[in-house]
Amino acid sequence: MPPPLANASTRAELTRAVAARSAGPGGEVVLVPTMGALHDGHEQLMRAAREGHPDATLVVSIFVNPLQFGPGEDLARYPRTLDADLALCARAGVDVVFAPALDEVYPDGAPQVTVDPGPLGADLEGAVRPGHFAGMLVVVAKLFGLVRPDVAVFGEKDYQQLVLIRRMVVDLCLRVDIVGVETVREADGLALSSRNRFLEPADRSRASVLSRALRAAQEQARYGVVTAREAALAVLSSEPEVRVDYLAIRSPELTELDDGDVGEARVLVAARVGTTRLIDNLSLTLGGAGSS
Ligand code: PAF
Repeated sequence: MPPPLANASTRAELTRAVAARSAGPGGEVVLVPTMGALHDGHEQLMRAAREGHPDATLVVSIFVNPLQFGPGEDLARYPRTLDADLALCARAGVDVVFAPALDEVYPDGAPQVTVDPGPLGADLEGAVRPGHFAGMLVVVAKLFGLVRPDVAVFGEKDYQQLVLIRRMVVDLCLRVDIVGVETVREADGLALSSRNRFLEPADRSRASVLSRALRAAQEQARYGVVTAREAALAVLSSEPEVRVDYLAIRSPELTELDDGDVGEARVLVAARVGTTRLIDNLSLTLGGAGSS
Protein backbone atom coordinates (compact mmCIF):
# COMPACT_ATOMS: atom_id res chain seq x y z
CA MET A 1 0.00 0.00 0.00
CA PRO A 2 1.64 3.35 -1.04
CA PRO A 3 1.87 6.00 1.72
CA PRO A 4 -1.02 8.50 1.67
CA LEU A 5 -0.69 11.80 -0.16
CA ALA A 6 1.35 14.33 1.85
CA ASN A 7 -0.09 17.83 1.94
CA ALA A 8 2.71 20.36 2.54
CA SER A 9 2.09 24.08 2.88
CA THR A 10 5.47 25.27 4.16
CA ARG A 11 8.98 24.92 2.74
CA ALA A 12 9.99 22.78 5.73
CA GLU A 13 7.00 20.45 5.29
CA LEU A 14 7.80 20.15 1.59
CA THR A 15 11.42 19.20 2.26
CA ARG A 16 10.38 16.64 4.89
CA ALA A 17 7.63 15.12 2.73
CA VAL A 18 9.88 14.79 -0.34
CA ALA A 19 12.72 13.30 1.73
CA ALA A 20 10.35 10.82 3.38
CA ARG A 21 9.06 9.57 0.02
CA SER A 22 12.23 9.68 -2.08
CA ALA A 23 13.89 6.35 -2.75
CA GLY A 24 17.02 7.38 -0.82
CA PRO A 25 19.35 10.26 -1.64
CA GLY A 26 19.41 10.96 -5.37
CA GLY A 27 15.88 9.56 -5.84
CA GLU A 28 14.17 11.19 -8.81
CA VAL A 29 11.68 14.01 -8.18
CA VAL A 30 9.09 15.01 -10.79
CA LEU A 31 7.14 18.25 -10.45
CA VAL A 32 3.80 19.21 -12.01
CA PRO A 33 3.30 22.94 -11.28
CA THR A 34 -0.34 24.09 -11.27
CA MET A 35 -2.54 26.91 -10.03
CA GLY A 36 -5.16 24.45 -8.77
CA ALA A 37 -8.78 24.20 -9.96
CA LEU A 38 -7.57 20.89 -11.28
CA HIS A 39 -9.36 19.11 -14.12
CA ASP A 40 -8.84 16.09 -16.39
CA GLY A 41 -6.13 17.97 -18.29
CA HIS A 42 -4.07 18.31 -15.09
CA GLU A 43 -4.78 14.69 -14.21
CA GLN A 44 -3.35 13.73 -17.59
CA LEU A 45 -0.13 15.65 -16.74
CA MET A 46 0.14 13.74 -13.46
CA ARG A 47 -0.53 10.38 -15.11
CA ALA A 48 2.04 11.13 -17.83
CA ALA A 49 4.53 12.07 -15.10
CA ARG A 50 3.80 8.88 -13.18
CA GLU A 51 3.96 6.64 -16.28
CA GLY A 52 7.24 8.15 -17.45
CA HIS A 53 8.77 7.96 -13.96
CA PRO A 54 7.14 5.13 -12.00
CA ASP A 55 9.65 5.23 -9.13
CA ALA A 56 9.96 9.00 -8.81
CA THR A 57 8.53 11.15 -6.04
CA LEU A 58 5.71 12.98 -7.80
CA VAL A 59 5.09 16.50 -6.47
CA VAL A 60 2.21 18.74 -7.56
CA SER A 61 2.38 22.40 -6.60
CA ILE A 62 -0.84 24.37 -6.23
CA PHE A 63 -0.27 28.10 -6.07
CA VAL A 64 -2.22 30.94 -7.67
CA ASN A 65 0.65 33.25 -8.53
CA PRO A 66 -0.41 36.92 -8.35
CA LEU A 67 2.68 38.04 -10.27
CA GLN A 68 1.37 36.57 -13.51
CA PHE A 69 -2.02 38.34 -13.36
CA GLY A 70 -2.27 41.86 -14.77
CA PRO A 71 -4.56 44.62 -13.50
CA GLY A 72 -8.12 43.82 -14.56
CA GLU A 73 -7.34 40.12 -14.97
CA ASP A 74 -9.18 37.42 -13.08
CA LEU A 75 -6.93 36.88 -10.00
CA ALA A 76 -9.81 37.40 -7.56
CA ARG A 77 -12.20 35.13 -9.43
CA TYR A 78 -9.60 32.47 -10.21
CA PRO A 79 -11.23 29.28 -8.82
CA ARG A 80 -9.80 27.87 -5.58
CA THR A 81 -10.88 24.26 -5.01
CA LEU A 82 -8.22 22.76 -2.70
CA ASP A 83 -10.26 19.83 -1.30
CA ALA A 84 -11.28 18.61 -4.75
CA ASP A 85 -7.71 19.20 -5.98
CA LEU A 86 -6.28 17.02 -3.21
CA ALA A 87 -8.76 14.24 -4.06
CA LEU A 88 -7.74 14.38 -7.74
CA CYS A 89 -4.03 14.28 -6.83
CA ALA A 90 -4.58 11.25 -4.59
CA ARG A 91 -6.42 9.47 -7.45
CA ALA A 92 -3.63 10.27 -9.89
CA GLY A 93 -0.91 8.71 -7.71
CA VAL A 94 0.72 11.96 -6.55
CA ASP A 95 3.05 11.65 -3.54
CA VAL A 96 3.25 15.25 -2.31
CA VAL A 97 1.07 18.30 -2.85
CA PHE A 98 2.81 21.60 -2.13
CA ALA A 99 0.11 24.25 -1.62
CA PRO A 100 1.91 27.22 -0.04
CA ALA A 101 0.44 30.53 1.12
CA LEU A 102 1.54 33.74 -0.59
CA ASP A 103 4.16 34.68 2.01
CA GLU A 104 5.71 31.22 1.87
CA VAL A 105 6.55 31.80 -1.79
CA TYR A 106 7.19 35.56 -1.55
CA PRO A 107 8.31 36.11 2.08
CA ASP A 108 9.81 39.51 1.22
CA GLY A 109 6.99 40.58 -1.10
CA ALA A 110 7.52 40.70 -4.87
CA PRO A 111 11.12 39.68 -5.66
CA GLN A 112 13.66 42.34 -6.61
CA VAL A 113 15.54 40.04 -8.95
CA THR A 114 13.27 38.67 -11.66
CA VAL A 115 13.44 36.71 -14.91
CA ASP A 116 13.19 38.65 -18.18
CA PRO A 117 11.37 36.53 -20.78
CA GLY A 118 13.03 38.46 -23.65
CA PRO A 119 11.24 39.42 -26.89
CA LEU A 120 8.93 36.39 -26.92
CA GLY A 121 7.57 37.60 -23.59
CA ALA A 122 6.03 40.62 -25.32
CA ASP A 123 4.63 38.71 -28.29
CA LEU A 124 1.28 36.88 -28.78
CA GLU A 125 -0.05 36.35 -25.20
CA GLY A 126 2.57 38.78 -23.93
CA ALA A 127 1.27 41.57 -26.19
CA VAL A 128 -2.21 41.22 -24.63
CA ARG A 129 -0.99 40.42 -21.08
CA PRO A 130 2.06 42.61 -20.37
CA GLY A 131 4.15 41.23 -17.50
CA HIS A 132 2.39 37.86 -17.53
CA PHE A 133 5.36 35.79 -18.65
CA ALA A 134 7.86 37.54 -16.40
CA GLY A 135 5.60 36.75 -13.42
CA MET A 136 5.10 33.18 -14.60
CA LEU A 137 8.85 32.55 -15.08
CA VAL A 138 9.66 33.96 -11.65
CA VAL A 139 7.32 31.54 -9.90
CA VAL A 140 8.42 28.58 -12.03
CA ALA A 141 12.08 29.37 -11.24
CA LYS A 142 11.15 29.63 -7.55
CA LEU A 143 9.28 26.32 -7.65
CA PHE A 144 12.30 24.71 -9.28
CA GLY A 145 14.43 26.10 -6.45
CA LEU A 146 12.02 24.95 -3.74
CA VAL A 147 11.13 21.49 -5.05
CA ARG A 148 14.43 20.79 -6.89
CA PRO A 149 12.83 18.51 -9.46
CA ASP A 150 14.77 16.41 -11.96
CA VAL A 151 11.81 16.65 -14.35
CA ALA A 152 8.96 19.16 -14.64
CA VAL A 153 5.80 18.52 -16.64
CA PHE A 154 3.70 21.21 -18.35
CA GLY A 155 0.68 21.13 -20.67
CA GLU A 156 1.00 22.09 -24.32
CA LYS A 157 -2.25 24.03 -23.94
CA ASP A 158 -0.18 27.00 -22.66
CA TYR A 159 2.23 26.55 -25.54
CA GLN A 160 4.02 29.92 -25.31
CA GLN A 161 4.53 29.31 -21.59
CA LEU A 162 6.08 25.92 -22.39
CA VAL A 163 8.42 27.43 -25.01
CA LEU A 164 9.52 30.16 -22.59
CA ILE A 165 10.14 27.70 -19.75
CA ARG A 166 12.27 25.55 -22.08
CA ARG A 167 14.16 28.71 -23.10
CA MET A 168 14.72 29.74 -19.46
CA VAL A 169 16.05 26.28 -18.61
CA VAL A 170 18.52 26.40 -21.51
CA ASP A 171 19.52 30.06 -21.11
CA LEU A 172 20.00 29.84 -17.34
CA CYS A 173 21.47 26.30 -17.35
CA LEU A 174 18.85 24.98 -14.94
CA ARG A 175 19.19 21.26 -14.20
CA VAL A 176 15.66 20.13 -14.95
CA ASP A 177 14.18 18.26 -17.91
CA ILE A 178 11.02 19.84 -19.27
CA VAL A 179 8.31 17.53 -20.59
CA GLY A 180 5.31 18.83 -22.57
CA VAL A 181 2.03 16.89 -22.58
CA GLU A 182 -0.62 17.08 -25.29
CA THR A 183 -3.78 19.09 -24.62
CA VAL A 184 -6.83 17.20 -23.37
CA ARG A 185 -10.08 18.15 -25.13
CA GLU A 186 -13.83 17.88 -24.64
CA ALA A 187 -15.78 15.80 -27.19
CA ASP A 188 -16.39 18.92 -29.34
CA GLY A 189 -12.69 19.83 -29.32
CA LEU A 190 -12.70 22.53 -26.64
CA ALA A 191 -9.35 22.43 -24.81
CA LEU A 192 -9.79 21.76 -21.08
CA SER A 193 -9.09 24.85 -18.99
CA SER A 194 -9.87 26.01 -15.47
CA ARG A 195 -11.52 29.01 -17.10
CA ASN A 196 -14.10 26.95 -19.06
CA ARG A 197 -16.29 26.87 -15.94
CA PHE A 198 -16.96 30.60 -16.44
CA LEU A 199 -18.53 30.09 -19.89
CA GLU A 200 -22.30 30.70 -20.05
CA PRO A 201 -24.09 27.84 -21.91
CA ALA A 202 -24.34 29.79 -25.20
CA ASP A 203 -20.69 30.79 -24.98
CA ARG A 204 -19.72 27.24 -24.13
CA SER A 205 -21.12 26.00 -27.44
CA ARG A 206 -19.54 28.95 -29.33
CA ALA A 207 -16.15 28.19 -27.76
CA SER A 208 -15.64 25.05 -29.84
CA VAL A 209 -15.00 27.37 -32.81
CA LEU A 210 -11.43 27.82 -31.56
CA SER A 211 -10.45 24.18 -31.98
CA ARG A 212 -12.41 23.94 -35.25
CA ALA A 213 -10.41 26.90 -36.58
CA LEU A 214 -7.14 25.25 -35.55
CA ARG A 215 -8.17 22.00 -37.28
CA ALA A 216 -9.01 23.96 -40.44
CA ALA A 217 -5.51 25.46 -40.39
CA GLN A 218 -4.06 21.99 -39.87
CA GLU A 219 -5.99 20.63 -42.86
CA GLN A 220 -4.85 23.46 -45.15
CA ALA A 221 -1.27 23.60 -43.89
CA ARG A 222 0.09 21.80 -46.92
CA TYR A 223 -0.79 24.90 -48.99
CA GLY A 224 1.34 27.18 -46.80
CA VAL A 225 1.03 29.68 -43.97
CA VAL A 226 -1.28 32.17 -45.71
CA THR A 227 -3.85 29.60 -46.86
CA ALA A 228 -3.84 27.83 -43.51
CA ARG A 229 -4.31 31.11 -41.66
CA GLU A 230 -7.16 32.19 -43.97
CA ALA A 231 -8.90 28.84 -43.42
CA ALA A 232 -8.74 29.30 -39.66
CA LEU A 233 -9.96 32.90 -39.84
CA ALA A 234 -12.90 31.86 -42.04
CA VAL A 235 -14.02 29.37 -39.37
CA LEU A 236 -13.60 31.96 -36.61
CA SER A 237 -15.70 34.49 -38.55
CA SER A 238 -18.64 32.05 -38.39
CA GLU A 239 -18.97 33.02 -34.70
CA PRO A 240 -19.02 36.85 -34.71
CA GLU A 241 -19.58 36.93 -30.93
CA VAL A 242 -16.15 35.38 -30.44
CA ARG A 243 -13.62 38.24 -30.42
CA VAL A 244 -10.25 37.09 -31.68
CA ASP A 245 -7.10 38.56 -30.08
CA TYR A 246 -4.73 36.74 -32.44
CA LEU A 247 -4.46 33.81 -34.80
CA ALA A 248 -0.85 33.05 -35.62
CA ILE A 249 1.14 30.35 -37.36
CA ARG A 250 4.69 30.14 -36.07
CA SER A 251 7.66 27.82 -35.91
CA PRO A 252 7.68 25.33 -32.98
CA GLU A 253 9.90 27.88 -31.14
CA LEU A 254 7.35 30.60 -32.02
CA THR A 255 9.53 32.54 -34.46
CA GLU A 256 7.84 34.20 -37.48
CA LEU A 257 7.40 32.20 -40.70
CA ASP A 258 7.18 33.06 -44.40
CA ASP A 259 4.50 31.67 -46.66
CA GLY A 260 6.93 29.35 -48.43
CA ASP A 261 8.29 27.79 -45.23
CA VAL A 262 7.75 24.07 -44.86
CA GLY A 263 7.95 21.63 -41.95
CA GLU A 264 6.65 21.49 -38.41
CA ALA A 265 4.83 24.57 -37.10
CA ARG A 266 2.26 25.65 -34.55
CA VAL A 267 -1.05 27.45 -34.99
CA LEU A 268 -2.15 29.47 -31.96
CA VAL A 269 -5.36 31.31 -31.19
CA ALA A 270 -6.62 33.54 -28.38
CA ALA A 271 -10.15 34.89 -28.18
CA ARG A 272 -12.71 36.31 -25.80
CA VAL A 273 -15.87 34.25 -25.51
CA GLY A 274 -18.35 36.20 -23.39
CA THR A 275 -16.33 37.41 -20.40
CA THR A 276 -13.82 34.57 -20.63
CA ARG A 277 -10.55 34.65 -22.52
CA LEU A 278 -9.52 31.32 -24.03
CA ILE A 279 -6.33 30.16 -25.74
CA ASP A 280 -5.57 27.04 -27.76
CA ASN A 281 -2.98 25.70 -30.23
CA LEU A 282 -2.19 22.71 -32.42
CA SER A 283 0.82 21.41 -34.27
CA LEU A 284 0.73 21.33 -38.06
CA THR A 285 2.98 20.45 -40.98
CA LEU A 286 3.49 23.15 -43.59
CA GLY A 287 4.06 22.37 -47.25
CA GLY A 288 3.85 19.21 -49.29
CA ALA A 289 0.89 20.17 -51.49
CA GLY A 290 1.34 18.66 -54.94
CA SER A 291 4.41 16.77 -53.82
CA SER A 292 2.91 13.29 -53.65
O1 PAF B 1 0.19 26.92 -16.16
C1 PAF B 1 0.00 27.28 -14.97
O2 PAF B 1 -0.90 26.80 -14.30
C2 PAF B 1 0.87 28.36 -14.37
O3 PAF B 1 1.22 29.32 -15.30
C3 PAF B 1 2.12 27.82 -13.67
C4 PAF B 1 3.06 27.14 -14.65
C5 PAF B 1 1.71 26.82 -12.59
C6 PAF B 1 2.89 28.95 -13.00
O4 PAF B 1 2.10 29.63 -12.08
